[in-house]
Amino acid sequence: MHPKYHLTAPKHWINDPNGFIYYRGNYHLFYQYFPYENRWGTMHWGHAISKDLINWQDLGIALYPSKNFDANGCFSGSSIKIDGKMYIYYTSVRYTKTNPENIHTTLTGDEFLSSQSMIISEDGFKFDNLNSKKMIIPVFKEGQIGHPTHTRDPKVWYHDNKYYMVLASKYLDETNNYNGQLLFYNSTDGKDWKYVNNYRGLKYGDMWECPDIFNVDGQDILIMSPERTNKDGYPSHGRITTINFDHENCKLEITGPLNYLDYGLDLYAPQSTIDEDGRRIYVAWMRMPAPDDENWIGLITYPRIITYRNNHIYSDIHPNVDNLFVSETNDFNNEIACKITTKLDIGDYLNIGGYQISFDGKLNIDRSLVYNYDAGLKQLSSPKLDKCELKIFYDQHIIEIYINNGEYVLSNIVYNLSNDINSNTNFTIYKK
Ligand code: FRU
Repeated sequence: MHPKYHLTAPKHWINDPNGFIYYRGNYHLFYQYFPYENRWGTMHWGHAISKDLINWQDLGIALYPSKNFDANGCFSGSSIKIDGKMYIYYTSVRYTKTNPENIHTTLTGDEFLSSQSMIISEDGFKFDNLNSKKMIIPVFKEGQIGHPTHTRDPKVWYHDNKYYMVLASKYLDETNNYNGQLLFYNSTDGKDWKYVNNYRGLKYGDMWECPDIFNVDGQDILIMSPERTNKDGYPSHGRITTINFDHENCKLEITGPLNYLDYGLDLYAPQSTIDEDGRRIYVAWMRMPAPDDENWIGLITYPRIITYRNNHIYSDIHPNVDNLFVSETNDFNNEIACKITTKLDIGDYLNIGGYQISFDGKLNIDRSLVYNYDAGLKQLSSPKLDKCELKIFYDQHIIEIYINNGEYVLSNIVYNLSNDINSNTNFTIYKK
């Protein structure tokens, strides 16, 4: 079954959210899409719209491989409104060695070249894949600014009469190891891009995917998803940190720890935008180890609002979602999306259909009964908490736990929940 209010593909594989934007009265959310199978392959951009960030209408494929430079995929990217039009930036991928047994992948993994491209849509609904695509940053040569294969995920924003772009990339350091780096470009018209600077200040993981830079509440913030950190045995995961970013010379300095964006560790490749009320929001891809019975795999989180106060980055549930669930009910039904609120004291627990939540100074979850896969961790914990007030959102295959109004979030993919719910303390269930 598809979730009711979370975005999924009608069929088959999705990964990262792309091109997320509130544009001419609709939210547009694109996604990395392989339309033929429940696995990753030649990337397309699927396209969905929504008036309220809750009810999504799928509009099919927006971008597909059509040029020599993107013959094997339209990788992740972003969009922005310029002169009323929707400008979309993405990474155009061409394989240098194709797998003869599956032409949607390369032979062993790294045999592809990446350039950065754009397509302009007049209205956000029509995408002329044959006539409106243009390459804006060609493939790098080895040893140049960026890596020929691993440079991708353009995120574009506007600041003080200029457009800025950050790219994910990697470089070979003096010890002959690859490290993640960021590349910065700027442009006066969104079409011609000039390289300005890079960031190589922190060695952590060998590739920093899907970077995103913005300011909230006076604080510059960086989101990114580092690959192969291998520091703690945890899967690659979306990170967030405070930074100082100087637009003048695109100089970036990281000023805080690289915190997890979500302590459930299924979340990857988040992308932010501004909602219709001017709030900074993000959604992200939730990795699923196995497809749903209805033949789809991967889903996108609920929208979350990012704020910064008391030296802490909060990500709380968007009010459109929070205010959707208003009628109290005594029953938990694994086919019905709901919100559950509770406050746990030390020693308290709440068991939602086999997904077990408990509090011992940290919030702990155990999903062993509802996640019979080795792909992700089954027991997870939040950082230490002073109190534990929870808003929990359940929808088909996902539980999102917002702790203390977004102080932390812990979300997990789940399978086959039962209809039992029990706890040693009070809780309230709300459905729509
Ligand atoms: C992140 C990512 C991006 C890339 C895309 C390809 O999940 O690897 O870096 O653009 O997925 O689908």
